[in-house]
Amino acid sequence: VRRQSKSADLSTDHLVHSRDPRQIERMFDAIAGRYDLMNRIMTFGQDGHWRTLAVTAAALKSDARVLDVAAGTGDLAIALARSVGPTGEVIGIDISTRMLDLARVKAAGLPTRFQVQDVLQLEPSGDFDAVTIAFGLRNLADRAEGIRRMAGALAPAGRLVVLELTPVTGRLARLIRLYEQQIIPLMGSLIAGRSQAYRYLSQSVEASVNRGEIGRLLADAGLIDVRSKSLALGTVALVWATKPSAPG
Ligand SMILES: C[S@@+](CC[C@H](N)C(=O)[O-])C[C@H]1O[C@@H](n2cnc3c(N)ncnc32)[C@H](O)[C@@H]1O
Repeated sequence: VRRQSKSADLSTDHLVHSRDPRQIERMFDAIAGRYDLMNRIMTFGQDGHWRTLAVTAAALKSDARVLDVAAGTGDLAIALARSVGPTGEVIGIDISTRMLDLARVKAAGLPTRFQVQDVLQLEPSGDFDAVTIAFGLRNLADRAEGIRRMAGALAPAGRLVVLELTPVTGRLARLIRLYEQQIIPLMGSLIAGRSQAYRYLSQSVEASVNRGEIGRLLADAGLIDVRSKSLALGTVALVWATKPSAPG
């Protein structure tokens, strides 16, 4: 048993650093059925509130066109679609077919479309009023390229909004790490039957970018007026910025 868990550690270690899209896709395909339930339990029901704050940060008009990257089972896309109303449109993209299958069912009747698409291959359409990504940035093999691609999809004056789990520092760090590294994989095993995927989650958070670094990625991609908010004892960052308006 010990040898087995050691090899699981080694493979999640590897994935945290390679973030190989094929393996990430397989992992999310495998946990899709229990993904929403795990989110509710792990976050003590707070994840919906964080997504609501992300929708507010996107500052949408009622007919806005929005691209939700790494849309997963669609919770943020659905909240965005309710905000833009029937004259708007939300396109959700993801590399996991099974996550998107669930999103399509949940979003039935809302102005949404879901497509299998890797954000790292996204063309610079320059026509979305807002681009969002929730809990997806840390999974990208090249996070700076992901942000550049998202910025390229924005229309002038459009908003890019990033919601992400971030590594913890400060007085509560040991307690929070204990929760993320021991309790969450245990829950993942009991509820989703996938302790490895949830061990990946905690390891990938630890190895990920913090709120300031996300802000710098947005600025480096040419976005301006970078703002951010720290949520949930510093474990979640909401960062948003604007694409400059076209000159003249
Ligand atoms: C933790 S889930 C987040 C889902 C959703 N945004 C939410 O708030 O619950 C991360 C998602 O990112 C997707 N993903 C990972 N790499 C991607 C990529 N290169 N392009 C698009 N989606 C990707 C995964 O398939 C997964 O569905």
